Amino acid sequence: MTAPANQLRATPPAGHALNVEKIRAEFPILHQQVHGKPLVYLDNAATSQKPRDVIDAISRYYERDNANIHRGVHALSERATEAYEAARCAAQNFLGAALPSEIIFVRGTTEAINLVAQTFGRTRVGAGDEVIVTTMEHHSNIVPWQMLCGEKGAKLRVAPISDRGELDLEEFQKLLGPKTRLVALTHVSNALGTINPIREIVRMAHDRNVPVLVDGAQAVPHLKVDVRDLGCDFYAFSGHKVYGPTGIGVLYGKSDLLAAMPPYQGGGDMISSVTFEKTTYNKVPFKFEAGTPDVAGAIGLGAAFAYVNGLGIEKIGAHEHALLAHATEAVSAIPGVRLIGTAPQKAGVLSFLIDDIHPHDIGTILDQEGIAIRTGHHCSEPVMHRFGIPATARASFALYNTFQEVDALVRGIAKVREVFA
Ligand code: ALA
Repeated sequence: MTAPANQLRATPPAGHALNVEKIRAEFPILHQQVHGKPLVYLDNAATSQKPRDVIDAISRYYERDNANIHRGVHALSERATEAYEAARCAAQNFLGAALPSEIIFVRGTTEAINLVAQTFGRTRVGAGDEVIVTTMEHHSNIVPWQMLCGEKGAKLRVAPISDRGELDLEEFQKLLGPKTRLVALTHVSNALGTINPIREIVRMAHDRNVPVLVDGAQAVPHLKVDVRDLGCDFYAFSGHKVYGPTGIGVLYGKSDLLAAMPPYQGGGDMISSVTFEKTTYNKVPFKFEAGTPDVAGAIGLGAAFAYVNGLGIEKIGAHEHALLAHATEAVSAIPGVRLIGTAPQKAGVLSFLIDDIHPHDIGTILDQEGIAIRTGHHCSEPVMHRFGIPATARASFALYNTFQEVDALVRGIAKVREVFA
């Protein structure tokens, strides 16, 4: 967890320093020039770069072990199956889940949430029922619930956020009622960086017997996540934001809930027997993994977990926190800058506006300086509506970023202001 804003530290505490120079040498993509300038990659909330360990794990799999899993009796299939299931156990340990079968491999956070909406949601949410989300959700944690509510005649309720971008817990509590069937909310906001107090929210929801789904896409790269400590019922994240490959992600679900849920997609591997009269389904987690999965992706994700564990997520979080503190102080001191998202508890993200310059112009000028940030509504349009703005410029930090890169961002912003002076 980060310290409150008034305690922001620009240097990690003793014993928490990462050897960033050594780390950067492990990420081949970082060593290039863009428009003749050294690449400064500050778009990590969109996707993170991959260490050599992850790239090698995927190459090794295709060079040595590639085969379909759970189906073959030959050596390659057995090796591929073993590596895929080892990745599931790595995901279990990464999240602190009780069982490997509580880990479903999916394409990413979006698919994980759709899976829950279409299985758990379709069986538990009926006409007149309610699903609660918050104003700070990514579209992937809004639209699947809107679709479900539309189909069922249920109602989507929205918990508001403050001017700093914090969830209003009192208003959230008021929304919880006898018709609430699920709370779905983000752990860390991709547009604001706000860290939500998930344990407290889960306790409030569970007091009313309401299950909670957490979108952890922006949390797992920065914070230690332990699903049993949080108490949540579902937890979803994407591999590519935590130094793994694209196309693979994880849905954690409590075993009793998963067992009771109908399958998501039909196809191979999710059945135990098929006749034209009747199909019976495989056990969890295979019931939810129809078709040939992204075996290489899961193996790459397993390598990403090993990489993060090797460095230590607490050290990573402390380093990123120090970068964010430095960036917050330096960027907010620039005349004309307005920060969007000033919650005391934040991770990884600095969203800002400069005067009335359109964020796309900010992004384009920074790109000419070799600096990659994201601009736009960040797939969180309701957040933009809440702040009365169309878009923001967003710098987002990862374990390989340096203080010099933050300084390059600050110089880049000064240049943007010169261009528009
Ligand atoms: N959800 C990703 C982001 O925030 C793509 O940029």
